[in-house]
Amino acid sequence: MKVLFSGSSYEYELIKEQWLASVEQIAKRGVFVGGPPVASFENAYAAYIGSKHGIGVGNGTDALILTLKALGVGPGDEVITVANTFIATVEAIHHTGAVPVLVDCDPDTFLIDLEQVKARVTERTKAVIAVHLYGQMVDLESFAAWAEERNIHVIEDSAQAAGAVLRGKKAGSLGTAGCFSFYPDKNLGALGDGGGVTTSNDDLAVRIKQLRNHGGEIKYQHEVPGFNSRLDPIQAAALELKLAYLDEWSAIRRNIAAMYEHYLGDCTSIRLPSSRGDESHVFHLYVVRIDGDGRERVRKQLQKQGVLTAIQYPEPIHLTKAFSHLNCAQGDFPNAEQAAGEILSLPMNITVKEEEVAGIAGIITGCLGTIGV
Ligand SMILES: Cc1ncc(COP(=O)(O)O)c(C=O)c1O
Repeated sequence: MKVLFSGSSYEYELIKEQWLASVEQIAKRGVFVGGPPVASFENAYAAYIGSKHGIGVGNGTDALILTLKALGVGPGDEVITVANTFIATVEAIHHTGAVPVLVDCDPDTFLIDLEQVKARVTERTKAVIAVHLYGQMVDLESFAAWAEERNIHVIEDSAQAAGAVLRGKKAGSLGTAGCFSFYPDKNLGALGDGGGVTTSNDDLAVRIKQLRNHGGEIKYQHEVPGFNSRLDPIQAAALELKLAYLDEWSAIRRNIAAMYEHYLGDCTSIRLPSSRGDESHVFHLYVVRIDGDGRERVRKQLQKQGVLTAIQYPEPIHLTKAFSHLNCAQGDFPNAEQAAGEILSLPMNITVKEEEVAGIAGIITGCLGTIGV
């Protein structure tokens, strides 16, 4: 058995002909930066998310950096986020000169604990980055109002949650801004790096558009010191073609998650993701928990049989060397630390078949040896 961890090559086959035709058109037009494919994708994505503006940028990390900078976040400010995220969330805060303030996650959903966020707010808090981790949305409804009363911006790190919907609202439409990564393996992935910001705030949209393009929307008119972080037109063309499939692909991912539940539901030695019973989860990753030395045994056995897995992520941010200067210690965020020791991402992409899920479940239960009654 060989089970792919990523479905991006398969996805490419679905858009290949149309995308190659777009690349030809771009080459004929001779506009290799910006141009109609970028504007067209930006409009389509903003409409899909339910935001007024969509702004293409170079990658998801830049989406966060440019959003923070456009909001005026800088030295002397604090930005609160969760200890168990991909490092880019915290790198973005760091590169603005602001101080990242970490909080723990909920032990069941792995999502940021918003009560802890409230407790860590100071007069220096400018923003909170809520990470919709693994494809499941943080329930921001009442928190967003709480934060707005205090002039604190809520930024949704939606890198892993393109297409997720909670009570009719898409990830990226709830806060001041939504930041997306279109890295190839994401639920909406480009054929290289890409990123985007969604917002309904007109001023913020203008500032981000300036910052991504050397500080000005018009060539050689530099309003502020900016960056070079634009979404490439050949990536925008691929993204718009894939956007048409996104809801169908989210349904396939949910169906694969249901298959894992069916085949692994009786295994008492493994904890399956808590989907909270809501419709929001788009299962960017399917992350189970196995404690003790079970995780390593399962991982090795799966690998031996051609099934690749991953640990996302092996260290919470406060225990990485990169952020040792935050002076946090082991034990500060017990839920995030415990999760890092137990989590295992099983194959989750649109190519995964029922017999593969059954096979993976068989290997896992065989290895752990404890199937419940
Ligand atoms: C939660 C989260 N935030 C930010 C990023 C950064 O995106 P990119 O790799 O496109 O810079 C990622 C990408 O993996 C991510 O998973």
